[in-house]
Formats: sequence, C-alpha cells, structure tokens
Amino acid sequence: MKRKIIAYNFVLTEALEQLDDRFEVEYFDGINPKTDSAFLDALKQAEGIVGLALPVDKELLEHAPLLKIVSNNSTGFNNLSLDEMTKRGVMGTNTPGVLEDTTADAIFGILLAAARRIAELDHFVKAGHWTGHLTTEQYAIDVHHKTLGIIGMGRIGSTIAKRGHLGFDMKILYHNRSRNIEAEEKYDATYCDLDTLLKKSDFVCLMPPLTPETENLIGEREFKLMKNSCVFVNGSRGKTVDESALIEALRNKEIYGAALDVYRIEPINENHPLLQFPNVVTTPHIGSSTFETELKMANLAVENLLAGLTGKRPKNLVNPEAFKGE
Ligand code: DGY
Repeated sequence: MKRKIIAYNFVLTEALEQLDDRFEVEYFDGINPKTDSAFLDALKQAEGIVGLALPVDKELLEHAPLLKIVSNNSTGFNNLSLDEMTKRGVMGTNTPGVLEDTTADAIFGILLAAARRIAELDHFVKAGHWTGHLTTEQYAIDVHHKTLGIIGMGRIGSTIAKRGHLGFDMKILYHNRSRNIEAEEKYDATYCDLDTLLKKSDFVCLMPPLTPETENLIGEREFKLMKNSCVFVNGSRGKTVDESALIEALRNKEIYGAALDVYRIEPINENHPLLQFPNVVTTPHIGSSTFETELKMANLAVENLLAGLTGKRPKNLVNPEAFKGE
C-alpha cells in the first residue's frame, strides 16, 4: 500500500512531482478541516501533510496517528501547535530563505501606495474625475528621506530596511526581540524600544511572527503614540493588530492611513469597516505570491516533506526536538 500524503490548499501541485510512486497524494482545497469527512478520513492514514495555513492542533493530531511531518508552504508557522506536535514526534517545517525579496517588494509597494495614494488616485482617473489640474485634494505625502520604523527585524524586516535605506534614503528605526547587527551595519538601522519607534516613525511597518507575545501588539495605546501623519503597514499576521483600535485611529484621524496585506480573518469580509476607508490600501495576503517565488516555496516545502518521510532531517525544521535521528 502506498504511503498517504495530504496536500492542503497547495496551489502549485507540479512541485509534488518530486514524490515518487511510493506515495499517494490526496488533495483538499477550500474545505473546513474540522468537519470535512473525507479530510478527517484521510488524516487516519496520512504520514505527511504539505500545505498552507492548516490549523494543526491537538484535535487534528488525534485524528492522525501516523503523521510524521507537516510541511508548511509558508515562512510563518503560527498555524502549528508546536508543543502538541513535538509531544507526538510530529515535525513541522517552513519555507524561509526564498521569499524575502518578493515579500519585501510587496510590503514596500503597499507602503508607497498608501503614502502616494496610488490605489485611490487610480480609481480617480478611471472614474473620469481627472478633468482639470490637480489640487491639494489629490496631494499625498513623501516617502523618501522619512523615518521607517520596522517592528520585527528578521529576514523580511531587514529586506524592507534595505529598500527603505538604500533606495529611498530613509532613516531606519527597529524594534526586535534581539539586536540585528547586520541591519545596523548595512542599513544604519537604530534599535529602539517600541514606544520610541512608534513616536518617531513616519512609517510603522509591522513584520514580527505571530506568537503569544506579538498577538495584539498594536492597539489603542500604540496608535495614539503614532504621529498623526504616520502610515501604518501590516505585513505580518492580522492578529498582531487590534483591528477595532485601527478603525478608531483612522476614524479619529490619529494616523494618515494604513497599508494592510493581512487581516484577523482571511479572506476579509467585503463589508468590513476597514474596507470603507479610501486611505487604507488593502491586498489579499500577497506577500510571497509571485509565480517565481511560489514555485520555489512549493519545491522547498516538498523537499522538506520528503526528507521528513524518509528519515532525514528536513532543512527547515522548526521543532528540532521532534526529529528522531537519521
Ligand atoms: C508566509 O510565508 O508566511 C506568507 O505570509 C504566506 O503565508
């Protein structure tokens, strides 16, 4: 009998061609993993799962007695309950090292779009409202030579700092669990506490992984500390921000605008109040979503999966304690 693998919300299925005929892949897309009976049935036999944003918790693990590895097709792994997985010897992996430039491009792109009102003015032109010379109604704010505050100076954060400093002559402030000496040396980044960063930055860019420490990191108090001219950018996970506090800050004009690639609930509901603000730029969690990068991620996710299923240590293991040795 072939060994079963579940591919969950895994778009570039050609990457699975690396698997040989020892494995049988069952595909699931857009299902509710808590209730879908075919999925729950497949879990009973599955030795590996490869995919995006599947909540792997105690309940799921109890349905999957043969599971050895969950290979995330993302760099974030907040969907994995690592304690529960490690207890059962189930490995978790992610896909760092191949998506930083692409994600930094997207996040810097929405930052620029919010500052220069690109999406809003695109609608202005297409709606036929450009009928004379521009007035202050269409003016925006500069990005170059401003202060960019980055919260979460990991690989993606420092790739954003590179764009800001080398491309736009921005002064870089950052807040992180630990100092990032490379970013300090290469991009003249200055480490500071969170409140100082919030008070001094013209752009606050939120990039930390979602953990118990970063959940709701930015709320009412933090928005009040920001400048009224600040653009707030979120490229991390929606739950790092209290969305009601963001809505209040926008309503009260406590900040200039926002650029969001992530939301507490994805896809965001079309009636969500955040979508009513012209000064909020929204994208559908596109950070790494280019053809080139998604293919690299998919191949890496399958490489990690295959290693875990053949007794080798996966390259991007996030819970090393679960590895039983070669
Ligand atoms: C990542 O890789 O974590 C991106 O945010 C896609 O989920």
